[in-house]
Amino acid sequence: MSMINWDEFEHIHVIKRLRHILSSWWSVDVVFTDERGQLKGFDGSKATYTNPGVGFVFGKEAAQQNLAEFVMKTIDDLRMSDNKFAIKKWDMTGWDIGVFPIMIENDFMGTVVAVPFFRDSNSPVRLAEVRDRLAAFGATAETIDKALGKTKYLDESDRTHFCEIVSLVAEEVVTLHLEITRREDRIRELNKELGSRYKYDNMIGKSKPMQSLYALLDKIKTADSTVLINGDNGTGKELIAKAIHYNSVRKDKAFVIQNCSAFNDNLLESELFGHMKGSFTGAVKDKKGLFEIADKGTFFLDEIGDTSPQMQVKLLRVLQEGTFTPVGSTEMRKVDVRIVAATNKNLKEMVEQGTFREDLYYRLNVINIRVPPLRERKEDIPLLAEFFLQKACEVQNRTRVTLTKRALEKLYDYAFPGNVRELQNEMERVVVLAGDETKILPEMLSPKMLEAGEKAKVQGARLHGKLKDALEELERDMIREGLRRTGWNKSKLAKELGISRAGLIMKVEKYGLDKRKITRPPGTGSQTGT
Ligand SMILES: Nc1ncnc2c1ncn2[C@@H]1O[C@H](COP(=O)(O)OP(=O)(O)OP(=O)(O)O)[C@@H](O)[C@H]1O
Ligand SMILES: [Mg+2]
Repeated sequence: MSMINWDEFEHIHVIKRLRHILSSWWSVDVVFTDERGQLKGFDGSKATYTNPGVGFVFGKEAAQQNLAEFVMKTIDDLRMSDNKFAIKKWDMTGWDIGVFPIMIENDFMGTVVAVPFFRDSNSPVRLAEVRDRLAAFGATAETIDKALGKTKYLDESDRTHFCEIVSLVAEEVVTLHLEITRREDRIRELNKELGSRYKYDNMIGKSKPMQSLYALLDKIKTADSTVLINGDNGTGKELIAKAIHYNSVRKDKAFVIQNCSAFNDNLLESELFGHMKGSFTGAVKDKKGLFEIADKGTFFLDEIGDTSPQMQVKLLRVLQEGTFTPVGSTEMRKVDVRIVAATNKNLKEMVEQGTFREDLYYRLNVINIRVPPLRERKEDIPLLAEFFLQKACEVQNRTRVTLTKRALEKLYDYAFPGNVRELQNEMERVVVLAGDETKILPEMLSPKMLEAGEKAKVQGARLHGKLKDALEELERDMIREGLRRTGWNKSKLAKELGISRAGLIMKVEKYGLDKRKITRPPGTGSQTGT
């Protein structure tokens, strides 16, 4: 089992939420220790603790040392018992604290420590003890007073709820750690798939599918056949067409691109084949067509699936005979052009449906290249992301930035419908948004990428349901007891609980804790009906 990455937990919503509850209901702080009892994630800043005494104590080397020994001793004791956690007095401070082990697959990985509170009473004797201990550490009178003011007495019912919540923290750490480990395993598996070549001309990628693509491109270097490139939007079809041209014997001749969907038929025809002066309004002089310009070179016909049936006939003739007729001319011209065509459409299906000529399809599809979508080669994501980040930094003339591990994980979880182009745009965007930052945090990514990650998590559903139930039960109990104790004095109770009176009234209604209902003898009516 790999080591726990404690820093991760600072960012986890559920854990933040649980910490917040422990702090606002009972002024208890939560810290983590590793499997040797060493405090984790203590940044030395006292401000992060609800109880200033906690921050003060943990700032002392001796206290950290003592906590480690205390935790290890407690864990030994727990091993001998059936208990899942321990509530004990931490003698060095005089406080009671809770120690909740984190067990992963029977391995002890660390603890959640909840501190401080009083278990039996907050009697003057115990208060005095804490006062003495904190003073011995050199705490100021002010810190001591605040620390004591924030140390609550947890009666049995409070303690039950409290332990439930701290146990949830420990459980959540386990779930998350397993999830992170699984994810790391997956990434390691993916990395095993990486080949040795990481680039081909301007194409980047180390994945198996990219290796096969490079091998295929190598193989067809000397061929002069027509190539049909098939792939979703933004997968790199144009890059591949260029690589084909610049690695062929035609590399010193023209590489001409025409998007076949961009024009109406007449314009397209005149673009491709040229026209004679006066052949139509606006044709003030002869114009060479792209086929002539591409003579001896390569012609890249992009979006070939979007051409009309009439245009398909004309293209077929060029492919078959190498001949065409400029608009307004009667004279045929002959050219030597290699055709590379690309589309994101399924031409075979179009042939079956009668929207694409079968003879043209077979003429084009001599060599077929299928470009895999990015979601089928996620192992290329880190390399591509890094490449686009650096490129964007150069363009924007700023210091380099890198992705944090967590941001990269979000990218792994995302499906990239827009493929490599979408990744490129995202990286350009984050470089702009990064400002002075040199590390890209997940929060800087587009919301759609963050959502994808959240949905992929098991954590959400499993713990959220449980957490919600536990919290509602706790809230209901605390309000019910509080109402009895204060004699239904809602203003007083609201103040005690640290919520508004209106908020309390809403909760009283939600839980059906209205005086009339709750004091009615059992069996005389339902909880909700009045
Ligand atoms: N393997 C890759 N390595 C580096 N950059 C890539 C790669 N694949 C695509 N790109 C980049 O992604 C963008 C889109 O690539 P390209 O235009 O070749 O895709 P396309 O398949 O022709 O897209 P469309 O179907 O939208 O026309 C370009 O900026 C290109 O440089
Ligand atoms: Mg394209």
